[in-house]
Amino acid sequence: MTTDLLQIELRKAERSRIQEVDFNNLPFGKHFSDHMFVADFVDGQWQNQQIVPFDNFTLSPALSSLHYGQAIFEGMKAFKNEAGEVLMFRPLDNVKRMNESAHRMCMATLPEDVFMGGLEALLRVDADWVPSTPGSSLYIRPYMFATDTYLGVAPSKTYRFCIFTCPVGQYYSNPPKLKVETDYIRSAPGGTGFAKCAGNYAGSLYPTLLAQQQGYDQLIWTDAVEHKYIEESGTMNIMFVIDGKLVTPALSDSILRGITRDTLIKIAKTMGIEVEERKVSIAEVVEGIGNGRLTEAFGAGTAVVVSPYSLIGFNGQDYMLPEHAPSDSIALKLKEQLDAIRTGKADDSFGWVYKV
Ligand code: COI
Repeated sequence: MTTDLLQIELRKAERSRIQEVDFNNLPFGKHFSDHMFVADFVDGQWQNQQIVPFDNFTLSPALSSLHYGQAIFEGMKAFKNEAGEVLMFRPLDNVKRMNESAHRMCMATLPEDVFMGGLEALLRVDADWVPSTPGSSLYIRPYMFATDTYLGVAPSKTYRFCIFTCPVGQYYSNPPKLKVETDYIRSAPGGTGFAKCAGNYAGSLYPTLLAQQQGYDQLIWTDAVEHKYIEESGTMNIMFVIDGKLVTPALSDSILRGITRDTLIKIAKTMGIEVEERKVSIAEVVEGIGNGRLTEAFGAGTAVVVSPYSLIGFNGQDYMLPEHAPSDSIALKLKEQLDAIRTGKADDSFGWVYKV
């Protein structure tokens, strides 16, 4: 991949904040590395590409994204291999998905070279921030928001794209308890569920808070029409092991096309695990836990990677999932293989790893 790094202006931080961070104890999303990449879409072109110190923006109170929500983002990760080189995982898939989100939200799309050029330049400048301790990584947050200052409801003509990064450890410290949500919805057919737009997350907060007040950690989202089929869980895709097969809801316009989801499906196939992408009903899940055919349920997403669930609550009843030794869990075997590929320890036969 060739990237025109010459177009990017670099203004380095006067002093690094890296010494303030305990890399053996990394909460998710709290420590931000020294720099960020910023570009603006003005007069129909991406311009002012810069790497600058991580800092606040000055924004107009009339900024259209603050009012009407044209805001999209991505999540991705980088790792270090044993030689200390920085490896990104499937970044081109994030560019593609970001542009699908941009299209749905009527926003400017990003040329691959602007996204990748900014990303590579940023990771070179902040390479020291990529953790090498097992279980940690550099979480990368590319995002874009509308910047017109105008109160009419219309697609903005200007946008800002930014990438910043944070060294992170595990997202959840304990296997979460999930509640099947049958009143509120995350997304509906024809809506924006497949897009990674800010509003999808905002709408999920209130029902999640209600579930947390009942002792659960997160929700399992069901379809908007019948509340009968499972779509996603929390902020990620959901997978099950049923009769030894990896089963996950088939993609639709109300489900995010998860890159981790796709990765785990492909890894499972190479490990000889049968995969089914299809409708999964709540009835099948609770009956399966009861009769022992469903042995694992887990979330799959960039931030969590693979997150085994401990319990599923539905209709006032809690269904405990069996505990597994790591050698006995399909979820954890998939995670182990994924970790090995993205840290350069296992063969990258799919061409997913992108060396900076
Ligand atoms: C990710 O897994 O990258 C996500 O987007 C979840 C995030 C909202 C924490």
